Amino acid sequence: MLKNQRAVIAGKKSWGNDYFLFSLEAPVISRKSKPGQFLMVKITDNPYPLLRRPFSIHARNKHNIEIFFQNTGVGTSMLSQKQRGDKIEILGPLGNGFHIGERSESKKASLIGGGRGAAPLYFLACELVKKNINVTVFYGGKSSEDLPIASKFKKENIRTLCSTEDGSSGFKGLVTDLLETELKTDTPSLIYACGPEGMLKSLSKISKKHQIPAELSLESIMGCGFGACWGCVKKIKKGNTAEWHKVCEDGPVFSAGDIIWD
Ligand SMILES: Cc1cc2nc3c(=O)[nH]c(=O)nc-3n(C[C@H](O)[C@H](O)[C@H](O)COP(=O)(O)OP(=O)(O)OC[C@H]3O[C@@H](n4cnc5c(N)ncnc54)[C@H](O)[C@@H]3O)c2cc1C
Ligand code: FES
Repeated sequence: MLKNQRAVIAGKKSWGNDYFLFSLEAPVISRKSKPGQFLMVKITDNPYPLLRRPFSIHARNKHNIEIFFQNTGVGTSMLSQKQRGDKIEILGPLGNGFHIGERSESKKASLIGGGRGAAPLYFLACELVKKNINVTVFYGGKSSEDLPIASKFKKENIRTLCSTEDGSSGFKGLVTDLLETELKTDTPSLIYACGPEGMLKSLSKISKKHQIPAELSLESIMGCGFGACWGCVKKIKKGNTAEWHKVCEDGPVFSAGDIIWD
């Protein structure tokens, strides 16, 4: 049962004007959440922007949940100006989330995050580690400023390999190239990923080539977040046919082999 509530911003951290981390007091949503699920956040009580914006659940503890977001437009910019003590309306937890405990009995998982796509992977990594699964995080960005939460993974003793397109930190190149390099010597039993569409498309190919199952969290512009508007659909394979599926309800996480890329 999803919940709509006004949550107090209990903590705020920022990295310049680009990346923000909010801790929200939301004990009921926190208890129900699983990695890969998301919230729809009401940006303002004013009419513009009207639509709520989707954000992954980045972390949780007994009382609070965290969201980690990049300032990319009007909604995220307005959200970034909220302060500790302000209240925001959130709806969640939404979506299916990553599968853990089924296929990931396999003991080695690679988590691939591109830019803000690393947001849901922190919660996922912490849950996998609790299940004694060996986790490596591959975290890629355009430059070192795009990897603000690398230290959070490292603090949890999670093996974290970084890449940047400009070479300012870690491997120089795309995070998928870094993964391919690693795959020459080490093969995970499962890949989980979230990030830009180009990265996810490449990962689908890598998953097929190396026969490693992959779960990919897709982004889509969302009107409602709970299946009412059909604004978020993507083509997904069902047996031999292609069907339109709602990213908000049937996803955002899909098996790489089921996604039909345009
Ligand atoms: C399930 C899900 C989880 C997400 N989790 C996170 C997260 O944890 N952290 C984070 O930073 N972002 C996340 N996003 C993306 C985030 O929702 C968008 O960046 C945000 O809605 C942009 O709002 P805006 O008003 O700032 O941008 P707008 O001013 O509306 O648009 C600015 C740019 O962002 C693009 N955009 C708008 N909405 C989306 C969207 N839903 N997905 C991708 N691009 C979009 C527009 O096409 C435009 O290019 C998630 C998206 C989905 C669907
Ligand atoms: S966002 Fe409305 S149906 Fe998915």
